[in-house]
Amino acid sequence: MSHRDANAHRLVVEGGVSLHGEVRASGSKNAGLPILAACILADGDYTISNVPNLADIRTMVRMLKALGIRAEYHEPNMVKICNKGNPKHIAPYELVTAMRASFFVAGPILARRGLAKVPLPGGCAIGSRPLDLHFKGFKAMGASVEIEHGFVELRAEKLVGARVYLDFPSVGATENILMAGVLAEGETIIENAAQEPEIEDLGRFLIQCGATIEGLGSSTIKIQGCSSIKGTDYAIIPDRVEVGTLLIAGAITHGDVTVRPAVPDHSEPLIRKLKEMGADVEVGDDYIRVKGHDKMVSVDIETMPFPGFPTDMQAQMMSLLCMVDGTSVIKETIFENRYMHANELMRMGAKIRLDHSHAIVTGVKKLSGAEVKITDLRAGAALILAGLVAEGETQVYGLHHLVRGYEDLPGKLKHLGAKIIV
Ligand code: UD1
Repeated sequence: MSHRDANAHRLVVEGGVSLHGEVRASGSKNAGLPILAACILADGDYTISNVPNLADIRTMVRMLKALGIRAEYHEPNMVKICNKGNPKHIAPYELVTAMRASFFVAGPILARRGLAKVPLPGGCAIGSRPLDLHFKGFKAMGASVEIEHGFVELRAEKLVGARVYLDFPSVGATENILMAGVLAEGETIIENAAQEPEIEDLGRFLIQCGATIEGLGSSTIKIQGCSSIKGTDYAIIPDRVEVGTLLIAGAITHGDVTVRPAVPDHSEPLIRKLKEMGADVEVGDDYIRVKGHDKMVSVDIETMPFPGFPTDMQAQMMSLLCMVDGTSVIKETIFENRYMHANELMRMGAKIRLDHSHAIVTGVKKLSGAEVKITDLRAGAALILAGLVAEGETQVYGLHHLVRGYEDLPGKLKHLGAKIIV
């Protein structure tokens, strides 16, 4: 099959338009996914609002249904869940392979049922992504972990609270252990826990369901286990990666863009870098506004766990760095293979040298529109951002990656004045 057939879904960006205006940010994908999975933990009715309507979240809704839980979108951004009776303990292969984050159901199913059989997700486009830290947590809580026929089978007559030290502050492992700890007997302490805002949001949701959790947003999270929690209504935080992507769209086109709602604290690592580059950034209680211009300069970026610079913004930032004065050094420390977009940007005329975990980006005066291929979600956003400033037309193939994690990014950019045909 040709490259074009395999990626029939494409969009065309006509470069050269400066973006202006205010745009709405959707709810956070990475908070919504574990929060929906956490609804497995207890019987009850849940109304989750500000849920982004995008492919990965729809996969999680399908997962809940496959486990025997009623879950439906009611309005475009509201999911209602009715959990009654024991959910099934086997997660379907096609949903876990469609989305790695489906593995978030492992902790809740194990905690609820005492056994869980979940397919191993395998590697993905940006790296090998092992699950050893999730398993370390489950084992410390008394579960057995067996891998057979591509499934991981978790068993525990009862989960017992434990002290778990994470060798690396993994987002997914922190979330899985946090969810399992809610129904474990006694206290679970996660040390070197990830501090991402999405984990805090999951924790706040669980507290509203009746869980007792301390230390959210810090590197030590303490959970007092209990025998059951209950359903609740909850609104998810704004998506800081979407917020950041839209801000970069404003900066790269030398426009003036306000994104609302936004939680400025969640975007602080990006805001600092934009300011260092010389962009004008204004921060309000619930919005961030950026103005870009032709005097912006290079900065160095190193991706790190929160509150460091997010790996999920590295690709979009690379597009911006291609268009400013000077040479920037990017170091990707979280995933080993997250520079696939660099090769596509080079096809548009970007000057980038890759050296293992480093990308050395030298700003150029112009990019030129080309046919480019999306390899993963954030790479997709980076290529569209580059297309916004490239001379002529950029045809972006492989949109299925983009729609996994953005709720109508082309529509939002068009709202700000971009010329995009989907
Ligand atoms: C989450 C986010 C993803 C983001 C990433 C890092 C969701 C749905 N996805 O992914 O968008 O890019 O955090 O901020 O929230 N690791 C291990 N062993 C483990 C688990 C992870 O070695 O058991 C390693 C991974 O290979 C990777 C690093 O830790 O190198 C970060 O992974 P992790 O924080 O777990 O990311 P995810 O939860 O998969």
